Amino acid sequence: MSEAAASERYTGVAIALHWLVALALGGMIALGKNMHDADHRPIEWMFQLHKSIGITVLVLMIARLIWRFMNRPPALPEDMKPIEKRASHWVHIGLYVVVFALPVSGWIMVSVSPFSIATVLYGTVSWPHIAGLPELALGTREVVYPRIEQVHEIMSWVLIGLFALHLGGAIKHEISDDEGVLKRMIPRLFGKTTPPRAPARGALLAFGSAFAFFGVIAGGPIIAQSLGGDGPVTQDISEGNWLIDYDASEIRFSGTHSGDAFSGVFEDWSATINFDADDLASASVSVSVDTASAQTGDPIYDNTLEAAEWFNIKAFPEATVALSDFRQEDEVEGVMVATAALTIKEVTAEVPFIFELTEADGVWTMTGTTELSRQTLDLGQESDATADWVSADISVSVSVQASPITP
Ligand code: HEM
Ligand code: HEM
Repeated sequence: MSEAAASERYTGVAIALHWLVALALGGMIALGKNMHDADHRPIEWMFQLHKSIGITVLVLMIARLIWRFMNRPPALPEDMKPIEKRASHWVHIGLYVVVFALPVSGWIMVSVSPFSIATVLYGTVSWPHIAGLPELALGTREVVYPRIEQVHEIMSWVLIGLFALHLGGAIKHEISDDEGVLKRMIPRLFGKTTPPRAPARGALLAFGSAFAFFGVIAGGPIIAQSLGGDGPVTQDISEGNWLIDYDASEIRFSGTHSGDAFSGVFEDWSATINFDADDLASASVSVSVDTASAQTGDPIYDNTLEAAEWFNIKAFPEATVALSDFRQEDEVEGVMVATAALTIKEVTAEVPFIFELTEADGVWTMTGTTELSRQTLDLGQESDATADWVSADISVSVSVQASPITP
């Protein structure tokens, strides 16, 4: 191939980025239009995938724009009419603008969303919300969210339209008598074959088939509904008359999300136990829990729990539990009940805490459970007060191994 011919092609990087972004966008439109189930409920993994690929596109587009400024694209073939050159130029500009604006609007949408759902790219990389937006008043977010959602949807249609014009243009030049442009944008591997010079055919066929192609991709259910530590603390002698084995102890919470059970632990907590079975009246237990240490095994849940409407870990890094009023439960040997006062985000709820004590080789194990109402504790009351997603009650089960400190 001569030098002149080689310089008429796009660079390898431009070609790679062009096709990568084109592939991603096709998938994104199909995904975006199909990520709700038959009851209009969001299918969470699809949303996360959509956000992951969308942000990837944003990153690729930034790279592409920079590359574009550093490597001017080859001049369009001489035999193209000036109006075609201008149309091609403006469609390219339009594509650039829309393909930037789409992921940016998506990012604004999820940042301002009253649902405060975290974005974790490909289940691994936490992607932040845009600073300041999640802190706006709930009323403002409820008004802004559907507007941005609408903008995002309209822009996706604009993209489909531009995509069709672009594809129509490419096909038109390929099947007409002129030189064609596709060979400039396909890898050299395929470019060795001369593009076929088909006789000129109507633009209608070209644009019609392009629109039909996108109609198939986007034609699925079109839904206007909105969506809705530092490692465990090890042996620690605190005040009190019991030595807790933190490695063998656990505070676990569980509930359901969208019908699926979830469960997590607080990795960092400490407790002071003053307990003498013969003197229940003066028994007391105080527990301090690091709210940021909640681990569910799913980074999306973990990041969501950190948000203001859940644990609000920035403002309230600590939750406390105070157990008092210990008594024997219905004379059942080993089963006791205490009143647990749980304080989180300055809201306190009192619930009965029923537990069992067993002893083996001088080590005592306490296991107990209680139910906590999200409503009483003001957890997730902005996005899901009616418990459509996350169960209204969260079970907390505690298992503590400890040995009495003998004076
Ligand atoms: C690269 C570009 C992107 C394209 C082509 C795209 C395309 C779409 C499409 C076609 C829909 C369906 C609209 C409808 O008809 O209802 C949609 C919805 C949505 N997109 Fe994107 N998107 C992109 C990037 C993003 C990004 C980066 C995010 C977030 C970080 C995002 C978040 C959303 C959300 C949350 C919805 C659902 C809105 C709702 O139904 O509540 N998108 N997107
Ligand atoms: C099957 C789909 C596609 C085909 C066949 C196609 C074909 C082409 C061809 C032949 C060119 C070279 C035009 C020239 O020589 O100047 C080109 C350039 C370009 N295409 Fe596509 N394209 C497709 C999808 C897309 C998509 C989805 C986008 C959306 C971003 C896009 C954006 C662009 C842009 C912006 C350029 C100008 C080159 C640049 O500045 O990077 N293309 N395309």
